Amino acid sequence: MNLLTTALEIVHHLPPHYLERTLREDVRAGLTKPVKTLPPKWFYDQRGSELFEQITQLPEYFPTRTERRILADHAAEMAAASPAETLIELGSGSSRKTPLLLDALKDAGPLRNYVAVDVSDTALTEANGELSRDYPDLALQAVAADFESQLQLLPRDGRRMIAFLGGTIGNLEPEARADFLEQVRELLGQEGGSLLLGTGLVQPPEILIPAYDDPTGVTADFNRNVLRVLNAELEADFDVNAFEHVAVWNGDEEWIEMRLRATRAMHVRLPGAGLEIDFKRGEVLRTEVSAKFRPEGIAAELAAARLTIVGQWTDEDERYAMTLAEPL
Ligand code: SAH
Ligand code: TRP
Repeated sequence: MNLLTTALEIVHHLPPHYLERTLREDVRAGLTKPVKTLPPKWFYDQRGSELFEQITQLPEYFPTRTERRILADHAAEMAAASPAETLIELGSGSSRKTPLLLDALKDAGPLRNYVAVDVSDTALTEANGELSRDYPDLALQAVAADFESQLQLLPRDGRRMIAFLGGTIGNLEPEARADFLEQVRELLGQEGGSLLLGTGLVQPPEILIPAYDDPTGVTADFNRNVLRVLNAELEADFDVNAFEHVAVWNGDEEWIEMRLRATRAMHVRLPGAGLEIDFKRGEVLRTEVSAKFRPEGIAAELAAARLTIVGQWTDEDERYAMTLAEPL
């Protein structure tokens, strides 16, 4: 990490040791449940962020390229419908699609600031290094923060567009989604502004499953990365290769469930979390859900947070939707 070459500061809104503490709490809560779970934000250390970038380039993983296509075709309409002085992007990762929005917002009005928000320092540094070279006139801010609990720390002045791309909202379960949208609504406040939300749409499992279980194993490696993070951060002794990646479509919940399945019985020590756990052979650990949506469901969830749709765009095959919403 070399901040000097980027002339960019990462604003740390995460309190000192926040990540270590919440990782410990998440691990203690999730791994002692009858069905073991881990929250997905822990995939993204440097290696995890790189593996996710590789996923976005897989032929099977259509969400990224579909969202890019929709932005390429319609960002000008989005920007015209909701010009902004500040673009805030939540879970911005590599910010690879962001230039499409920045260009459209610059053409549509007085865009001055871009604020990237992510829990991953390495992603923030790399992304904003590139953007600062390409957008010398924009004030860039990289904020290391948790979008589930720290939206109140983000800038409130001027007209803002809050972009939440990549279908990441689907990684939150319904209750967490409702809380999140409430906070977005609160952040938009009286000043006006908009939410631009990218969501995967419900598709036949034959299309969805390969996107989350590719033949080259990049996705499997990404999924297992969460165990490497636990090994590194909590001095745990997971035998990472003894877990296999499983992606299943849950038709009742309409989400893809990512699991790691123990290929043999194991005893795992996690001294950093003060925990020891056992896996039976075949036992699964749930690492992520990736919910897919229907247009009427998106509208209902936004309405419940007092947000109303001002525009919605999909690709030809209707695999992905981008929804622009404003306070009611
Ligand atoms: N928006 C990008 C990246 C999507 S991957 C795209 O469309 O390709 C999800 C991103 O969200 C990762 O960069 C991850 O580090 C970040 N993330 C996950 N949980 C988060 C949380 N609770 N708070 C902030 N960022 C989070
Ligand atoms: N936000 C991404 C999604 O839901 C995350 C993701 C893609 C993912 N592939 C994965 C998470 C495989 C775990 C395993 O599409």
